[in-house]
Amino acid sequence: MAEKLLYIKSYGCQMNVYDSQRMADILKPLGYALTSTPEKANLVILNTCHIREKADEKVYSDLGRILPYKDEKMVLAVGGCVAQAEGAEIMRRAPYVDLVFGPQTYHRLPEMIARAHRSQDKKEGVGRGILDVEFPVESKFDHLPQERNDLSVSAFLTVQEGCDKFCTYCVVPYTRGAEFSRPVEDIYKEARTLVDKGVKEITLLGQNVNAYHGLFKGQEWGLGKLMEHLSTLKGLERLRYSTSHPRDMEEELMRVHRDVPHVMPYLHLPIQSGSNLILKAMNRKHTREQYLDLIEKIRSFRPDIALSSDFIVGFPGETDQDFEDTLDLIQKIRFAQAYSFKYSPRLGTPGAAMENQVPEALKAERLARLQNLLNQQQQAFNEACLGKVLPVLFDRMGKKEDQYLGKTPYLQSVYITSNTPLLGKCTDVLIEKAYAKSLTGPLQSDQQN
Ligand code: 5AD
Ligand code: SF4
Repeated sequence: MAEKLLYIKSYGCQMNVYDSQRMADILKPLGYALTSTPEKANLVILNTCHIREKADEKVYSDLGRILPYKDEKMVLAVGGCVAQAEGAEIMRRAPYVDLVFGPQTYHRLPEMIARAHRSQDKKEGVGRGILDVEFPVESKFDHLPQERNDLSVSAFLTVQEGCDKFCTYCVVPYTRGAEFSRPVEDIYKEARTLVDKGVKEITLLGQNVNAYHGLFKGQEWGLGKLMEHLSTLKGLERLRYSTSHPRDMEEELMRVHRDVPHVMPYLHLPIQSGSNLILKAMNRKHTREQYLDLIEKIRSFRPDIALSSDFIVGFPGETDQDFEDTLDLIQKIRFAQAYSFKYSPRLGTPGAAMENQVPEALKAERLARLQNLLNQQQQAFNEACLGKVLPVLFDRMGKKEDQYLGKTPYLQSVYITSNTPLLGKCTDVLIEKAYAKSLTGPLQSDQQN
């Protein structure tokens, strides 16, 4: 079969990265090989993100950049969450796009591509694009190939998808659909394929990953039990998971953090705001006190756990006091790292229709103050590791010669120069320097020599 070139660009979250990889897995048997630029590609897929305004706009500007390379042989496709939310709008604004498909229909790509080629052959011309943004009854996971390709040391594996929580700022329940958990056996098989191919670390993904409740022989298992089961895979060294919701943080999961060494001491647990009024307006269904209690309980199981979170500043109605409450919560908890965003009104979500939208300039000012505090905490967390010996899993080469990049159990980046190969190895490093976003130091074995 003649080789065809496939270019995929992934925007947004880790689940989109996973989806992009699975698209490549589906297309490999059809003769598509990945390429890193769109110019000569036979198939270009933009796997889009709708979470904030800027993410949307990037797609249209990238489409404009690709258009000059588009000839009659190139199939241009837009997938992902923007496609799901505004597929018809994409086809109107960019009529040269051949395919538009959502996150739940990409298993049908071979069929869609064949149809696109047929309409190109018939020269049906512009405006004949194919739109598939259904939420099919059957799960795409039942149609994805067993094979996983282009893997590295660390891999993603989606175990749960979608959301039924309807936070008032968020598009995810509309773009990804209802909450769904894959069966345990399915996940185990995929994890085994990964480990057989040399993967050492798996990050289990889900929009509400700790709400996971997959079936095992007729019984429902939570995320903790699932990870305990996966930890029996020979060759697997580390397990992580993302993203969690405070309401789904069960004791079983905390126990697994304490008892299963494969489960890394890192937890991304978004709270979004430290103000009860804003949490209520966001429909988060938990208070700041409940979150603080939860953190205390988690720390009682795993005192060294690195905590991470997401914050939104400038949600409609956020006063100076609400914002101060957020800063106060951050001071109380001390995060190892966090993500923070200006509120971006998303069409169709309740937040967009709320009164008291916060002016952009004020959002920017609050974001700067918030990030300043979070950066200080990250620096402090990193500095607290000075002098410690931490096991680092090296998963990438750095830009410089013989430079390796890896992660501590707490998900801090470590870089090191070594003339012995380290890729795929989990090795002890003595932390001698701590920066805002990284750590470095000698290998412990070098120290002993
Ligand atoms: N505006 C700004 N940030 C948002 N997020 C989700 N929706 C919005 C929005 N409309 C942030 C939340 C979420 C993360 C993935 O993105 O903090 O946890
Ligand atoms: Fe973006 Fe959310 Fe879709 Fe991920 S699930 S791509 S973050 S909109």
